[in-house]
Amino acid sequence: MMSPFVSHRSPRKILVTSALPYANGQIHLGHMLEYIQTDIWARFQRLIGNECYFICASDAHGTPIMLKAEQDGIEPIELIEKIRKEHMRDFGNFLISFDNFHSTHSEENRQYSELIYNRLKDKGHISRRTIKQLYDTEKQMFLPDRFVKGTCPVCGAEDQYGDNCEVCGSTYSSAELINPRSVMSGSSPVERESEQLFFKLENFRDFLVEWLDSGHTQKEIANKQKEILKEELLEWDISRNAPYWGFEIPDENDKFFYVWLDAPIGYLASFKNYCDRYNLDINEFLKPDSECEVYHFIGKDIARFHTLFWPAELYGADLRTPTAVWAHGFLTVNGQKMSKSRGTFITAETYLKHLNPEYLRYYFAGKLDDSIDDLDLNLDDFKMRVNTDLVGKLINIASRCAGFITRVFEGQLSAGLPNTQMFEDFAQASETIAKAYESRQYSKVTRLIMQLADQTNRYIDSEKPWVLVKEDGTRKQVQGICTQGLNQFRQMMIYAKPILPKIAEETEAFLDIEALNWQDAGTPLLNHRIKPFKPLITRIEDKKIDRIIEESKENDIETTAISSEFEPLAEEIGIQEFVRIDLRVVRIINATHVDGSDKLLRLQVDLGGSTRTIFSGIKSAYQPESLVGRLTVIVANLAPRKMRFGLSEGMVLCAGTGDQDLYLLEPDSDAQPGMRIT
Ligand code: MSP
Ligand code: ZN
Repeated sequence: MMSPFVSHRSPRKILVTSALPYANGQIHLGHMLEYIQTDIWARFQRLIGNECYFICASDAHGTPIMLKAEQDGIEPIELIEKIRKEHMRDFGNFLISFDNFHSTHSEENRQYSELIYNRLKDKGHISRRTIKQLYDTEKQMFLPDRFVKGTCPVCGAEDQYGDNCEVCGSTYSSAELINPRSVMSGSSPVERESEQLFFKLENFRDFLVEWLDSGHTQKEIANKQKEILKEELLEWDISRNAPYWGFEIPDENDKFFYVWLDAPIGYLASFKNYCDRYNLDINEFLKPDSECEVYHFIGKDIARFHTLFWPAELYGADLRTPTAVWAHGFLTVNGQKMSKSRGTFITAETYLKHLNPEYLRYYFAGKLDDSIDDLDLNLDDFKMRVNTDLVGKLINIASRCAGFITRVFEGQLSAGLPNTQMFEDFAQASETIAKAYESRQYSKVTRLIMQLADQTNRYIDSEKPWVLVKEDGTRKQVQGICTQGLNQFRQMMIYAKPILPKIAEETEAFLDIEALNWQDAGTPLLNHRIKPFKPLITRIEDKKIDRIIEESKENDIETTAISSEFEPLAEEIGIQEFVRIDLRVVRIINATHVDGSDKLLRLQVDLGGSTRTIFSGIKSAYQPESLVGRLTVIVANLAPRKMRFGLSEGMVLCAGTGDQDLYLLEPDSDAQPGMRIT
């Protein structure tokens, strides 16, 4: 039987994207919500036989990247390449099936950015005027809003960013701040005039209202954008003055495209890079009357860029507009915003060190739908869902049935099914499940699959193969029952394959069959020899989650220790807790700068017999030479920490209030290296 969903229609041609992650930080589980959501959709499209390209790239331009590189003492190009590799590693490990992961800092992107800009300019959609902006005379650069802090002009709260006040919520421009100062240099910026280029969004008002009203994005998103359209007369500043890390604007002097101009164009650039390598014609996708489909998956925080500016730019440049922009909500962990101090700011890398990526893929799928509501990763619930549903119900079916087939029937499946009706019912489910995937209702998908798993487990329970196998007269029936169970497991794994691609692959290996596709759910696997079953996935142990939380806290020690000013006294502890910390006297025998770090020194310390290497964030306060020979105190039983520059085997104790204000602890000069502090 063919699934009606895949039927006779010729394959659709689909380009699907996830937002391009900024190339200045690590991928965390919040990001992963989006990449997993998109990946499931892309894999589903391929599984039902559509031609689907899943494209992404590093978002590699802009001030924050320029500054991060400066801070790390490297060139922006080195930074973005390094981060791009880290991101690709994390995505790969989470089984994200990008067809291409390019960079916005690429020739393809320069060409498309210029093309689109020039077309817009030729048609009169670009204006220029002189505006006032804050300028840092020390750093010699114009300051973006987020790089100015000062007193809120509305409520008087101190230390607020230049775009909005976190205390009273007012928005304003950085020039309105009282006592503004540059975050870069601490100096007070001056106002300076400069000419900037603007995209006249106003010219696209009618087009946008129509576009937003025709189902190209969710209702909530559309309504929000229409609010914006109602009120403002819109001109979008697309240029930035040098120094800026980005593309120079053609025919201008020292002006650069604002990062958000070239970022979405990066979708096309990355796809172009792919098309060139695989001899595909990108214009089939880009021409205004294209029949190919284009979908952008994004977080709701960047909806304005994707549902106002982006469609307008494309339309204005005579290129096709997106078929749809699908936004999702934000991830919270244990009901709260991810937090470094709670250890819930979990990077992809930390997660993957301890847990299987498919646990999270399964959990996110179980929570995702087509809404823009925020979504919570509750770690207890996460463990329970994975252990009871995924492992206990679904995967368990394979181990329950495969054991008998291997041990008693030499791996041979029976020639027919004892219950063809049930198999047919399972095949029928493909229609509903496919519709749920197509409309991004993955929580419905997992619910339906779990219902099938429950049904299968009930079937096995009632047939009791473990009893039948004991009698010669009934033993033969066991082969049929287990063949039925395994066939339904195979159907469920087809339906779950977009979510659990690796388990699906391992299932194919143990069933000894070709890669499963959607139609295979309609025909049973009979008269076939399977391979011995190996457990596909195990339960989550508590201590794994604890380790993740702990490590996510550790990540943060350096930053909080340096940035916090006067914290309240810490929570009271008993002596038994204190003695768990092994504090030792050491002598610093060598101290050197660390290439590429503006905070750290590499210390070699003598512990009275053994030596250790410790990276310590005290460069701002000490010349390395001045430290050699001094006694100090370290935490000796701190778990070693892998840093970019090497392994740090302990922590040096300092008093202090901030970067500049650090005082190394030093015992009296008679103390001996190795002595314990008690
Ligand atoms: N570089 C821009 C996107 C440019 S697209 C042309 C950007 N980058 S980002 O790294 O900050 O975020 C990448 C995606 O991850 C965005 O869609 C963002 O909404 C999403 N998320 C980042 N943190 C998130 C959560 N905590 N939860 C869910 N999604 C989150 O924005
Ligand atoms: Zn305020």
